[in-house]
Amino acid sequence: MSAIKCIGILTSGGDAPGMNAAIRSVTRSAIYNGLAVKGIYRGYKGLISGEIVDFRTENVSNIIQRGGTILKTARSLEFKTPEGKKQAYDKLCEFGIDALVSIGGDGTLKGAREFAQEFDFPIVGLPGTIDNDLFGTDVTIGYDTALNTIVQCVDKIRDTATSHDRLFFIEVMGRDAGFLALNGAIASGAEAAIIPEISMQKDQLAEMIETGFRKSKNSSIVIVAESEITGGAIGVAERVKKEYPQFDVRVSILGHLQRGGSPTAQDRILATRMGICAIDALLDDQRNVMMGIQNDEIVYVPFSKAIKNDKPINPVLLDTLRISSI
Ligand code: F6P
Repeated sequence: MSAIKCIGILTSGGDAPGMNAAIRSVTRSAIYNGLAVKGIYRGYKGLISGEIVDFRTENVSNIIQRGGTILKTARSLEFKTPEGKKQAYDKLCEFGIDALVSIGGDGTLKGAREFAQEFDFPIVGLPGTIDNDLFGTDVTIGYDTALNTIVQCVDKIRDTATSHDRLFFIEVMGRDAGFLALNGAIASGAEAAIIPEISMQKDQLAEMIETGFRKSKNSSIVIVAESEITGGAIGVAERVKKEYPQFDVRVSILGHLQRGGSPTAQDRILATRMGICAIDALLDDQRNVMMGIQNDEIVYVPFSKAIKNDKPINPVLLDTLRISSI
């Protein structure tokens, strides 16, 4: 018999479509297993200040289809300090919470890992981020929705790019990871993707412009991953404008619209499966693990591995884009 009687649930860091589906699943699975549930608002920040309420099954009705997070989210600097962590621990004790489910990305899981180790407190994580940059899981909750949003936007931009014979550089999110950019480029039929994982030398860019844009096409779309390494869409476009003044260049930065919207079926299913497994994991005395999905099986990924920051890009995808865009 597990000693856990009450779990707390929070979302932290950047929101991602499917977080609500995860909250719903964790809550209902906990209740199904006879546990009490407390919803913690505004991530670790709300934990420190005690924004904590009882959650019943009806608290999570009618949310599976909603983007954002009903628990709200925040990035907490205070939780990085010893005082902040101690206050968070005291609140957990005060509210009778004996295990935590943290939903978020890299920063959320880093915080969870440190806290769990320092206070010997059971925490499991769910990978909620559009960036797909957590190691040990094929995909993260929110990634598929963001990818579909990107494709819809690029389809629209292509209409105007074609009408005007223009070269568009479209910037997508991902922080320091190029998953959204690369797969967004493949799915939208873009000519190229510039991603931080692959250094794009000046002459490579030139080659791409010459062969892709000049030779056979009179309009082109290049997806650029946001990052200091790529220089972002504005940086790349400036270079191209200087070197190829004959081209009619435009930039579009998709920004936070990539984070919103109703989650796709895939994200809802992923979040629901992971939520149920998170409770199973806690009841099975697992701690310091993130739920991951590999080959359609849910797996436990130690926090230390998940946040390693070196999730590789599949090189096959680079060839896929190159060949399909000739
Ligand atoms: O991690 C998710 C993400 O959307 C990144 O892709 C992006 O770099 C960042 O968050 C933006 O953060 P904020 O919403 O704080 O501007």
